[in-house]
Amino acid sequence: MSDQKPTFGHVPVMLRETLEYLVPPTPDCLMIDGTLGLAGHSSAFLSRHPGLRLVGVDADAEVQAIARARLEPYGERVRFVNSYFDEFFVDYAKEAEEGAAERPALVLFDFGVSMFHFRESGRGFSLQGDEALDMRLGSDAPRTAAELVNELDERELYRIISEYGEEPFAYKVAQAIVRERKAARIDSTARLADIVRGAVPSKVRYGRIHPATRTFQALRIAVNDELGRIGRAVDAAIACLADGGLLGCISFHSLEDRIVKLAFRAKAVKRERAYFKDDRESPIPVGEAERCLVVLTKKPVEPADDEVAANPASRSAKLRVAKAVAGTRP
Ligand SMILES: C[S@@+](CC[C@H](N)C(=O)[O-])C[C@H]1O[C@@H](n2cnc3c(N)ncnc32)[C@H](O)[C@@H]1O
Repeated sequence: MSDQKPTFGHVPVMLRETLEYLVPPTPDCLMIDGTLGLAGHSSAFLSRHPGLRLVGVDADAEVQAIARARLEPYGERVRFVNSYFDEFFVDYAKEAEEGAAERPALVLFDFGVSMFHFRESGRGFSLQGDEALDMRLGSDAPRTAAELVNELDERELYRIISEYGEEPFAYKVAQAIVRERKAARIDSTARLADIVRGAVPSKVRYGRIHPATRTFQALRIAVNDELGRIGRAVDAAIACLADGGLLGCISFHSLEDRIVKLAFRAKAVKRERAYFKDDRESPIPVGEAERCLVVLTKKPVEPADDEVAANPASRSAKLRVAKAVAGTRP
């Protein structure tokens, strides 16, 4: 479909499904794209819905400059905010509560980093080539990946690589990093990738996926506090939504998806909560009148076979969608 044209070599993930689920309730309403990226999703929404107005949030000013150029034809319909999405939505929720900001009818998150980060940023997100180990989305992130790799103690490195990378050989990787950094500081992606390759058992050393992929993911998550920010942002976005508003979240790994699933579950109305088997993790206050959700995707929606064939990077994507309703908790 014409909406799925690549944007600067970037193909928006699950665009067809996102457009199908997030249908504006009125022609002239507000959408907030919490992860504007290269504006692949946003440009498709703006082109399909000529009355839609959009706020595009991204922590990365460089990416946002590209999005700004792409969305220029939409003129005043678009406003750009360079901010972390959790900070943006927490502030926005307060303003909406006070009646000082328009509640959005649509909110979209497409978590992670964009193809720009891997291919062009030069900030050490990619295992291809050799770049400085930085990985910061915003220049105000407190520590670079190189600082984490060279300064954290072995136990904390192990925790990060194991928890955020779900790396089965995290212990060996953390041990190798601490050993090698004594010889010389680890400042480049190529050196870190070699250290990780040397640390894992030979049977996984030369597989289809580079053995350092999980370690790189873990460091990126830690540098940018990605999981903490997702939790805070999803909760605040739920609080912002207009009645009947729709929230779509695209995740790329189980850690992200779990945060979204639990945030939806915690706000789901009673009828919806019955669908979830184990409800004990999210105790719900009794009798409080507040924003509730109807979860529209009982199971997360996954990309269709044709999308995975055309864009293998989409294979692990999962979309969850919920609708805001005013309600009283059971
Ligand atoms: C997967 S890309 C989004 C791609 C976009 N949907 C598109 O179609 O072009 C994710 C974007 O979210 C941004 N991002 C990641 N974490 C963020 C955060 N905590 N706050 C704001 N932006 C963030 C990244 O800089 C990146 O541009």
